[in-house]
Amino acid sequence: MKDTISELHKQFCADLETILEATDFQRVRDQYFSRKNGQVTLLMKELGKLSPEERRDAGKLINDFKNFAEQELDSRQEELKRRAESLALERERVDISIPGHRPALGSPHPIVRARQRIEDIFVSMGYSVEDGPEIDTTFYNFDALNIPQGHPARESQDTFYINDELALRSQTSNVQIHAMQRRKPPFRVIAPGKVFRRDTPDPTHNPMFFQVEGLTVGKNITMGDLKGTLQTFLEKLFNRAITLRFRPSYFPFVEPGAETDFSCYLCASKNSGCRVCKGTGWIELGGSGMVHPNVLQACNIDPQEYSGFAFGFGIDRMTAMLYGIDDIRHFFAGDLRFLTQFR
Ligand code: PHE
Repeated sequence: MKDTISELHKQFCADLETILEATDFQRVRDQYFSRKNGQVTLLMKELGKLSPEERRDAGKLINDFKNFAEQELDSRQEELKRRAESLALERERVDISIPGHRPALGSPHPIVRARQRIEDIFVSMGYSVEDGPEIDTTFYNFDALNIPQGHPARESQDTFYINDELALRSQTSNVQIHAMQRRKPPFRVIAPGKVFRRDTPDPTHNPMFFQVEGLTVGKNITMGDLKGTLQTFLEKLFNRAITLRFRPSYFPFVEPGAETDFSCYLCASKNSGCRVCKGTGWIELGGSGMVHPNVLQACNIDPQEYSGFAFGFGIDRMTAMLYGIDDIRHFFAGDLRFLTQFR
């Protein structure tokens, strides 16, 4: 009996080592203590066959083993529980010193920013913002604007045609016609938007670019109103005194018409080496003039009673000036290294 128990002791110690997780305990416990055929239970049954002396000694040995085994199992179980808890703590620990993930924020495109500034200034001067179609009929693109058949601007070398009737607008001036059909004078509108021309891209050209059109129609509107309006706008935009210059020019939908320049916002005509105006002191704004009577008439506005002025200039070039950018193609490349600088 003594040998059996010391054998059992050895066996138990080996079995203890096989316990790796909580479910192993029941297996080992059952193996020794199950009521039916646990090793210890079986030994107890053997006791009856022994003489009273032997029984006393063997009983003590079994009891010692039993106590030892139970204690071992309990302490192992305790230890396993503690280890599981500290593992869980380790797993759930939050390291508050790790830098967080900052979501990449979008921001308005520089052209959108400039357009909003332009809109804000004109709105503060009583203008409404008018929307117009980017694909339009030749009536709105050309005919109603007094651009006759055979005029070079109508040619397919310059204009993207969809068919004989429809084209991508080559200027925002089509909105002049839509606005005059929709509204009754007096009114003031600007129409910013995309325009399309068959140009080869270079630092100042792109087949798609942005213009803003301006149109004011009312009684006794004069060239002086045009001049004052554009001057006030530019002074607000560049936040400095500006003078305006008209160079007589021809646009079929205005008479008189003018190429319109403004005094350099950087050197104010004083610096012969200025990089913005190239020493000329003047910067080209765009076209402007008094709305042609034929155009008013095409929109059922009586040119005897009403007059108006119109202007149009490029938003892309204006944006390039505001941000000191030397190539408008940057605006259309979609390069985040460029775009994320405008926050
Ligand atoms: N539409 C003209 C252009 O694109 C500009 C313009 C607008 C000229 C209004 C006169 C009046 O060049």
